[in-house]
Amino acid sequence: MIALLLFVLTSLGFVINASTLNSCSNCGDSVVPYPLSTTENCGDKRYQIYCNDDELEFLSATGTYYKILRIDPSANRLVISPPLILKNTCYSSDLSMGGLVLDENLPFNISAQNTVMLFNCSNNILQSPLNCTSNSICRQFEKKVEEGSGCMGTLCCHYLKDSAMNSHRIRVKVGSCTAYTCLVRFTPDDPLETWNYGIEIQWSPPN
Ligand SMILES: *[C@@H]1O[C@H](CO)[C@@H](O)[C@H](O)[C@H]1NC(C)=O
Ligand SMILES: *[C@@H]1O[C@H](CO)[C@@H](O)[C@H](O)[C@H]1NC(C)=O
Ligand SMILES: *[C@@H]1O[C@H](CO)[C@@H](O)[C@H](O)[C@H]1NC(C)=O
Repeated sequence: MIALLLFVLTSLGFVINASTLNSCSNCGDSVVPYPLSTTENCGDKRYQIYCNDDELEFLSATGTYYKILRIDPSANRLVISPPLILKNTCYSSDLSMGGLVLDENLPFNISAQNTVMLFNCSNNILQSPLNCTSNSICRQFEKKVEEGSGCMGTLCCHYLKDSAMNSHRIRVKVGSCTAYTCLVRFTPDDPLETWNYGIEIQWSPPN
């Protein structure tokens, strides 16, 4: 009887621990929800992110770190900061890496809630399904946001990165477009002051 009780108690303890033990401790002030993993022995290692100087970062397939702005574990989503456009240029800081590239073998992809703005594009980009009109929101970014001022007067476009598009990269390249930024859950009437800068990344849940 006592043996049985002990068995039940230890199994119960194991079940409770399994759900709490596995999640990683905080990174600075940020909670690291399961399955995200910052070290070898917590989380699920396929969902690796990094805690550098108390800030959470996401590593791309090309070795670039992007700051994680927020995490929504119930929706399996996190938002990273778009790369900076280098001062007095129209180059994104990840231009030499070809933009944002995710490893297709990992359980992360770019969600269908991102509106991407591209800058300093060449004319051949016009053939693709982008909005490059003078009404494109990229014009507002160039004119009113300091970071976009180096792109003023270049050909720019925006598009919703929906499920019809490659969900593992946002491509920039010399000779195509050389800079980009991105808004999460943008709707056409949102005024510039309320734009939510970020790139939303989704993960498929562990089985
Ligand atoms: C381009 O985007 C602007 C701003 O969202 C919108 O008003 C306009 O209708 C779009 N034009 C095309 C051709 O999609
Ligand atoms: C990303 O992955 C999720 C989960 O595997 C999937 O449901 C979703 O359709 C994918 N998103 C895109 C834009 O491909
Ligand atoms: C725009 O891109 C071209 C190459 O595609 C580059 O030579 C030029 O310097 C870029 N312009 C700015 C303002 O960065």
